[in-house]
Amino acid sequence: MTAAKEAGTTPFQIDLRRYLRELDENRDLTRLICEIADASKYIVNSIRTGDLGVAGTSNLYGEDQLALDVLSDRIIRKRLLHSGVVARVASEEISEIITISPDSRGKYSVAYDPLDGSSLVDVNLAVGTIVSIYEGDNLLQPGRNQVAALYILYGPRTTMMLSTGNGVHEFAMNQLMEYNLVQENLKLDPKGSIYSPGGQRNKYTPGTEKFVSHLEAKGSKLRYSGGLVPDINQILVKGKGVFLYPHLQDNPNGKLRVLYELNPMAYLVEQAGGAASTGKQRILDLQPQGIEDRAPVFIGCKEDVALAEKFIAEEA
Ligand code: AHG
Ligand code: MN
Ligand code: MN
Ligand code: MN
Repeated sequence: MTAAKEAGTTPFQIDLRRYLRELDENRDLTRLICEIADASKYIVNSIRTGDLGVAGTSNLYGEDQLALDVLSDRIIRKRLLHSGVVARVASEEISEIITISPDSRGKYSVAYDPLDGSSLVDVNLAVGTIVSIYEGDNLLQPGRNQVAALYILYGPRTTMMLSTGNGVHEFAMNQLMEYNLVQENLKLDPKGSIYSPGGQRNKYTPGTEKFVSHLEAKGSKLRYSGGLVPDINQILVKGKGVFLYPHLQDNPNGKLRVLYELNPMAYLVEQAGGAASTGKQRILDLQPQGIEDRAPVFIGCKEDVALAEKFIAEEA
């Protein structure tokens, strides 16, 4: 419970900066998170009015970069530089780690996906920005060492889901483009009623196929938009469900990237009492070998993830 609530103000009057200060975050982390919040104002505007075309370049994964991918990346990197508290950055749209400040004392390192689901903008579906924050200058740490993670969801409303290690809290952007607290300490139920199956079903391995058939047999509803941020957000806000982008017959590591998709999402979901696994091990215990690392993922309600692990173990 934040002091402001005790003072009788409604949660809607607590803005992000004030909320972080009440969580007694050190000034630099508050400043970093607020810079990212500022960056999202420019990104939401560029999504609504920007160029939907391709940039004519491709990223480390051989994906054609959209103009919006490159613009969103530039917007975020500019704000991270401006914060003065960032040592190094890694981005989906940059092919190597960039050193912002050689003097990394008291600084943070940030891995981010500037525009996740960018190929959905032209069909007007929700997209997001995903951010993972570590202390110091090492970005190849296990995700359990993150000091904060957040995503911004550009949907009918622009919302931020944030944790600095004290629970997961949702903020919404108001008419003045400031983020106000909407709800604190979101929690997941032990098991869910929706499932969000990424990847091609006919390429699922037997264990994953059994898991999904089991969910369908118990009446779970399929909810999949193709955007990781809205698909995870639905599970966090409703408090129930499981998302999977599993290992496939022709792709043992699935599609999603460890540093700036899986680690931040796993951190947020675990802070909400959920779980995130490759099917064989906890996502946050993975030791990244490189910024391009990918892994399979089952993430959401604890019992659903444990069930997936059971079916995967039986296929081994
Ligand atoms: P990005 O747009 O940042 O490259 O990531 C897209 C990801 C993620 O948003 C989603 O879960 C996944 O791609 C969907 O993949 P499929 O199109 O194969 O379903
Ligand atoms: Mn991409
Ligand atoms: Mn992405
Ligand atoms: Mn992206």
